[in-house]
Amino acid sequence: MSIQNQQTKIVIGLFGFGVVGEGLYQVLANTPTLQAQIKKVCIKHPDKKRNAPPGLFTTDASLLLDDPEINVIVELIDDADAAYGIVTSALRRRKAAVSANKKMIAAHLPELIELQAIHDTPFLYEAACCASIPVIRNLEEYYDNDLLHGISGIVNGSTNYILTRISEDEISPEEALLEAQLAGFAERDPSLDVHGHDAANKLSILLAHAYGILAQPDELIYTGIQNLHEKDALFAREKGYEIKLVATAQKLKNGRIAAFVLPHFVPRSGQLAGVRNEYNGIIIESSLADKQFFYGKGAGSFPTASAVLSDLSALRYNYRYEYKKLHYQPAGRPGHDFSLKVCISFKGLLQVPHERFDRILEWSSNAQRCHITGILSAAELVSGNWWKQPGISLIVYPDGLRENDRDTEIPVSSGFVEVLAEA
Ligand code: HSE
Repeated sequence: MSIQNQQTKIVIGLFGFGVVGEGLYQVLANTPTLQAQIKKVCIKHPDKKRNAPPGLFTTDASLLLDDPEINVIVELIDDADAAYGIVTSALRRRKAAVSANKKMIAAHLPELIELQAIHDTPFLYEAACCASIPVIRNLEEYYDNDLLHGISGIVNGSTNYILTRISEDEISPEEALLEAQLAGFAERDPSLDVHGHDAANKLSILLAHAYGILAQPDELIYTGIQNLHEKDALFAREKGYEIKLVATAQKLKNGRIAAFVLPHFVPRSGQLAGVRNEYNGIIIESSLADKQFFYGKGAGSFPTASAVLSDLSALRYNYRYEYKKLHYQPAGRPGHDFSLKVCISFKGLLQVPHERFDRILEWSSNAQRCHITGILSAAELVSGNWWKQPGISLIVYPDGLRENDRDTEIPVSSGFVEVLAEA
C-alpha cells in the first residue's frame, strides 16, 4: 500500500527500539501535527525496561506486517539480515518501508529497487547516509548527472569523533571509541566504523543516487582509521593538515567514477577540517553551482530520527526515489584509471614494497616512524593488500587524485633506494 494523499494518517509498525527507535518514538509522541502514529513496536528482548507503555511492544513481527491498518514499516534494527527480511516482507505486502540500515541497503540495493518497482511501493532511507544531512534526496532530485563532478566528505560520525578527540584532546583511540559508543554514535560492532566498512556502505548508496552506479561496498577501495599512528597526526600538523576519513566519488576524464574511502590530509583552513566530533560534511561539486557544502550531525539518536521523520513526511506526498540516474546511463562500475598521491607511514623501511609505487616523491624516517610520499595506482590499491596491514597507514594528500599526469612531479633522487639497500 502506498500513502495516497496528505490526509492519510501514517500508521507505523516500528522494528527496533534502540537509540534511534526511541528517538523517533519521542519525537512522534510530542508532535501530534505530524499525523503519524506508532501502532506497534517489534522488539527482540521483551524483558528490557523501556520508556514507553508496555502494550506497545511485541516480539511477533506478523502483528506488524499483517496488520492492514499499518501502512508504513519503519525498520531501525542493527541486524542487517533481519532488516532485509523485514523490508522485503513489507514491500511484498505493499507497505511503504523506511530504514536506516546502510549495511543492508548497500548489500541489497539492486533487489530492493526491483521490489519497489514490482510492488509499486516506496522504500526510503535518507537516515542511512549522514543522518541529519539530506544528501540522498538532494543527489536524487537536485543534481543532474552530467553536471556532477564529484562528492567528497566525512560520512562516518564515530571515526570523526575519534579523530577529533585524538587531535584536540590527545586522548587515546580506545578512550575516544568508548565515548563514541556511550554516546550511541558507534555501530554495535564498532569495527564496522573503525575499519571503514560503514563509510564504504554509505558511499555505495551515494554512488547509486549520484551516478546510477550499483556497486557492492567490497568493489570500492577503502580502509578506516585502524592503522593511523599518533605520529601521523604530528606529521599532518607540521604540514598544516588534519587527518579525516573521507569518502570520495569523482568523475574521471573518461567518464568513469573513481570511488574510495581513505584517510586524507585535509588543509586546516578547509571546510572538512572544521567538521568535528560526530558531525559529517559533504562537498558536492558540479559545473554550474561549483562547490556546495552540506554539514550536520551524522550520528546519534535525534539527528538520525530527524531523517526518518523526513522520510515519513515525504511518504505523505507519495514521494519515492526514481533512481533517475540508473536510467540515464548504462550502469557502470567504479573506474580504476587513476592514481593517488599518498603518504605511507610505517615502522621499519622493509615493511613496505617500495617498488609498488609509480613514483616516490619524498621520504623521511626517524626512530619511530618512516613516511614515504609517492604515487600509487588504483590498480595497485585494488590488487595489493599490503597497504592495509597492521602497522602501515595510508593517507591521501589534498587534491591527490591523478589522471595521466606522470611527468608533472619530480621523483625523489636515488638516495631512497640506497637507504633501502642498507636497511
Ligand atoms: N555508526 C554510524 C556513524 C552511525 O558513526 O556514522 C550513523 O550512521
